Amino acid sequence: MTKSITRGDLEAMDREDPLRGFRDRFELPEDVIYLDGNSLGAMPRATPERLREVVQDQWGRDLIRSWNVHGWIDLQQRIGAKIGRLIGAREGETVVADSTSVNLFKMLAAGLELRLERRVVVSESSNFPTDLYIAEGLVRHLGRGHTLRLADPEEVEAAITDDVAVVMLTHVNYRTGRMYDLRRITERAHAHGAVMLWDLSHSTGAVPVDLSGANADLAVGCGYKYLNGGPGAPAYLYVAQRHQARISPVLSGWLGHESPFAFEPSYRPAHGVERFIVGAPPILGLTALETGVDLMLEASMDALRAKSVQQTELFDALVTQEIGAGTFALISPRAPEMRGSQLCYGHEHGWPIMRALIDRGVIGDFRAPDILRFGFTPLYLRYADVWSAVATLKAILAERAWDHPKFHERALVT
Ligand SMILES: Cc1ncc(COP(=O)(O)O)c(C=O)c1O
Repeated sequence: MTKSITRGDLEAMDREDPLRGFRDRFELPEDVIYLDGNSLGAMPRATPERLREVVQDQWGRDLIRSWNVHGWIDLQQRIGAKIGRLIGAREGETVVADSTSVNLFKMLAAGLELRLERRVVVSESSNFPTDLYIAEGLVRHLGRGHTLRLADPEEVEAAITDDVAVVMLTHVNYRTGRMYDLRRITERAHAHGAVMLWDLSHSTGAVPVDLSGANADLAVGCGYKYLNGGPGAPAYLYVAQRHQARISPVLSGWLGHESPFAFEPSYRPAHGVERFIVGAPPILGLTALETGVDLMLEASMDALRAKSVQQTELFDALVTQEIGAGTFALISPRAPEMRGSQLCYGHEHGWPIMRALIDRGVIGDFRAPDILRFGFTPLYLRYADVWSAVATLKAILAERAWDHPKFHERALVT
């Protein structure tokens, strides 16, 4: 019989944890266990002061001069380069801009431009809806007979055939946490002459990513999840150097122009990845994002991944040990190398159980139709928190606390 896991075991792991110093650099209420950093990352303690400086000292005092004297005009490239280091991009291949949805539109259009003679976009039927909606909208707008070929995750490879223009996938699935082999799928796309577009929203800062090593083409991702950039933080995009000069951006805005301040009447794309910038950057949002990214860059990605795997393994083992194997159905892959930094469980009362958990300070989220989703953010989540979260879940079930009418009411945001 295997030895049972105790709270003391997890507290000992906290004492040994090489990342333990990071938690204090986040603002987190003591009575909260935050398992939703995969949806909205926690706030770095440095963020309010950084924002105050930019608002009061730069905007307030230096006004429009700040674009030059405080480097506002280069902020998207500067933060883009920092994010590039987290995903194995080379210099000049990443930039921060717009939202993930808008970047998906830009990058999918870019991929289709690189394969003008082809008409098929492959994606996964359970991809995040915005990815699919954006593809539908672009295909309809182009009106050139493109089709969207949607496959189940296990069938995606077989769906990549010689007629495919772009393969558009989310590396770590938002709902199940299932993770593709980025290099293998990229190779498969290339072997069939297709362009590969990755959505890294649930990957960057959560799992090691090596876009250069995989010879990737295009990628996008989100700034407000594991990068802790704040609600609605700007997103980022990646275009491999070899493609940049061949793409005429579909959103040809003035700040993607080769010479924006020449105010020429017609568009000439900027030389590098800057051509995918559209309009004036949101400096406050970028400032908060940079603070989150800087903090993430201080940590070793290998240490983050090792702790994330340990935490998810412990959580799942504790669910079995404390609650029993049959109560929740693990929807995430069992093997840690097949999943990102989250665990999802199906339960017929998933919604009220999650509401009751949140009411007791254990914050995860719910994804329709019946999924409880727990995100693990090793920068600020302690091992002892994993214990407490499962203990709370156990108590809620034992007391049937979830069955109170107030937990059955649906909220707008789940
Ligand atoms: C995979 C994926 N792509 C995109 C988004 C969101 O895009 P946006 O920031 O444009 O709302 C999410 C949000 O959760 C996501 O999970």
